[in-house]
Amino acid sequence: DWSMANFIELEIAKIRETVGDKKVLCALSGGVDSSVVAVLIHRAIGDQLTCMFVDHNLNRKGEVEQVMKTFTEDFDMNLIKIDARQRFMDKLAGVSDPEKKRKIIGNEFIYVFDEEASKLEGMDFLAQGTLYTDIIESGTTTAQTIKSHHNVGGLPEDMQFKLIEPLKTLFKDEVRALGLELGLDEKIVWRQPFPGPGLGIRVLGEVTEEKLEIVRESDFILREEIAKAGLDRDIWQYFTVLPDIRSVGVMGDARTYDYAIGIRAVTSIDGMTSDWARIPWDVLEKISVRLVNEVKHVNRVLYDITSKPPATIEWE
Ligand code: XMP
Repeated sequence: DWSMANFIELEIAKIRETVGDKKVLCALSGGVDSSVVAVLIHRAIGDQLTCMFVDHNLNRKGEVEQVMKTFTEDFDMNLIKIDARQRFMDKLAGVSDPEKKRKIIGNEFIYVFDEEASKLEGMDFLAQGTLYTDIIESGTTTAQTIKSHHNVGGLPEDMQFKLIEPLKTLFKDEVRALGLELGLDEKIVWRQPFPGPGLGIRVLGEVTEEKLEIVRESDFILREEIAKAGLDRDIWQYFTVLPDIRSVGVMGDARTYDYAIGIRAVTSIDGMTSDWARIPWDVLEKISVRLVNEVKHVNRVLYDITSKPPATIEWE
């Protein structure tokens, strides 16, 4: 009979047997799947596991620090942070087409990961958070592109990784239960979906440092107010987007000409379809006031009231 405790015991035994005294590398993104894989494998083989986190400058506010703290301090893992911020910014400079941006971010991630992985000596295995649904669906997300890249035939010739995918029989809700059982924080286990290209596709058009800052700060305020209102479990996903729109406003006696920021909040089961979340007006009011007061270069707030379809959840 299947229980989480049994699953953990069995998987740990399997991982130990497969890995022996060899070493395992794991790309940690801070998302649910890679976090659970890392913690499970760490439980099995401890210091034989090395994790790598690529900072592409497209994460939400506080996220890089949180990942570093969780896995190095709370779980005492070997975790290497790769600072690739400038690299990503250079590659994205002057690019405004959404599909091109996605490709650049996805490819750059793989280049950086491969480059840094090949600097590490003696890594035999690559751990991946492939889920059952990743196997039965065709890869469309960046996470899956990375997964498929490192799957059969995708690895560079000189990298002889063998794959370990201990979650490949599980569904998302089982992965969350496993994460909790392994001692991961609820915040990580119940993290809302976050796209592989990160804030890079929430700054519409060309990505600049200034615009990233606006999205990062506004997203942080939105998350704070949603949590304060106790709505974080009801709303499936919520974030801000920065369209390339500036409009006229007034501040004190002065005319402003600054950015409008959009709030996107949706309810959904699986992201395939969604409805716009009915955030109470008084909560929206608080968010709006904070956004224009606290985020530099924002003088107007928009609320996205389209469902999917016909709109998508993300704007790019
Ligand atoms: P859309 O915008 O297509 O998004 O309605 C559906 C869900 O997928 C997430 N999303 C992504 N996730 N890599 C990912 O891992 C991606 O490139 C990507 N694009 C969108 C989106 O946040 C939503 O939850």
